[in-house]
This record gives sequence, C-alpha cells and structure tokens, in this order.
Amino acid sequence: MPLRLLQLTDLHLFGDPGGRLLGITTRLSFESVLALALSAPSSPDALILTGDLVQDETPTGYRYLRERLKRTGVPHYCIGGNHDVQSLMREHLGPAALGSVALRRLDRWNLIFLDSIVPGSDGGRLTADQLDQLADLLANDKAPSLICLHHHPAAIGSDWIDRIGVANGAELLALCERHTQVKAILFGHVHQEASARHGNILMLGAPSTCFQFKPGSADFALDDNPPGYRELMLYPDGRLTTRVVRLDQYAEMPLHQAGGY
Ligand SMILES: [Fe+2]
Repeated sequence: MPLRLLQLTDLHLFGDPGGRLLGITTRLSFESVLALALSAPSSPDALILTGDLVQDETPTGYRYLRERLKRTGVPHYCIGGNHDVQSLMREHLGPAALGSVALRRLDRWNLIFLDSIVPGSDGGRLTADQLDQLADLLANDKAPSLICLHHHPAAIGSDWIDRIGVANGAELLALCERHTQVKAILFGHVHQEASARHGNILMLGAPSTCFQFKPGSADFALDDNPPGYRELMLYPDGRLTTRVVRLDQYAEMPLHQAGGY
C-alpha cells in the first residue's frame, strides 16, 4: 500500500477567527480545505504544512492551528514561511514545528524538511550548514526521499514570485541530482499548482488554502481558482503519484485591485 500524504500550504491565518486577507477569511477557507482533505473514508498517513501558517504574528494563530491539527488525529509536520515567526512557531505549535533540517521516516520513505526562511525577507535561502547536513543525510540513507520546504528552488514562470524563491536553489537542485533517491521537491509560497521536472526530480507546488496567485504573471496578480491542497501517493518502490484537489467553489472572491499583501 502506498503512503498517502496531504500538503496544505500558505494558510495565512489570524489570531482573530474572522481575520481576512485580500478578501478571504483565511481561517474559514482553511477549515473548508481541511474538511475536504479529510473527507475520504480512509485517513491520510500525514499532513504536511509548507509554511506561511500565520499572517499576523500572534500566539493565538499558532495555538489555534496546533489544536486544530491535533484534533485531526493525523500525524502532521509544519515548516515556516516568510510570513511566520520561528520563535512563535516553536513555542506555540509544539513538536509539529520542525527545525532547520529535519528527517521523518514513514515506512520506506524519508521526508526531509528544510527551513528556507531568511528573517526580514520575502525570499528564501539555504545555509551552507543546511546543505552540508542534507548532503550527509542523502549520502548515508538511500531510502526514497521527498524534500519539503517553503520557497520554490527553481523558477515557475511568474517574474515577481521568481525573484523571491530560494536564492541558492540551484545548489539544492545540484545536490539532489547527485542522489537518485530524491524523487520530488515539494514547496509552498507560490499559491498555485506547479509541476515540472528537473532531471529525475519532480518539482511540485500547491494551491494555497486561501487566495491564489495568477500563473505566468509578470507582476503581482490574483487568480479566481478556488483554494485546495495536494495529495501525494508514495509507493514502497520509490514511485510517486500526485494530484491537486480544490474546493468546487468558494463563496469569497479575492480582491483583484490589491497590489500586494
Ligand atoms: Fe504565502
């Protein structure tokens, strides 16, 4: 049986349950996506949250998320994004908040989590120490591996968002190319479905649980696609299949006149 993992990303929650961003009540949209994600008869094996968890830097936002994820009864792993505050995550999310390089083994697969946050910047970077730790992990364990981080390590075709990816993403890709057990790199940040191949590695981005960015846009622009999540099926022989699932429709529409957030 394959492992079934669900990626939920870019929640942009507020401490206030009614908090809105770009016209979307982000807690409501997250609850709607989570309900859809957990509606299958069988429970997923894990939830992976790839950053921008809380928008307003409040302990309340993280504590809500901690309790909500705990109530799912599903193992869950959280990494931060450029809108998160690592100290608050560590204090209020508890053990679900992962460190700068973290390895979790699920059956035959290794899930490797990297913190790509650069404090004070929208863009990301991996430190030399993180890349060294990853190189050691990959050299010592040949289990099929899924790497998860917030920022995208290669361009996705939107100029404005490609300027704020992982600055040294090429180093990550070069390292992963040398280790054929790396099957995919999973990221958030882009607020849209993204799927591309880099050699043998699948590069995967997912819709946000709140507002979406318009694909192929040179400048900041929002999209009317509904919120969603990504499902990944990881097979014991190293194969991986994946799909994006969205709400059929969502009552709130994003504010298109916004120039950023
Ligand atoms: Fe985001």
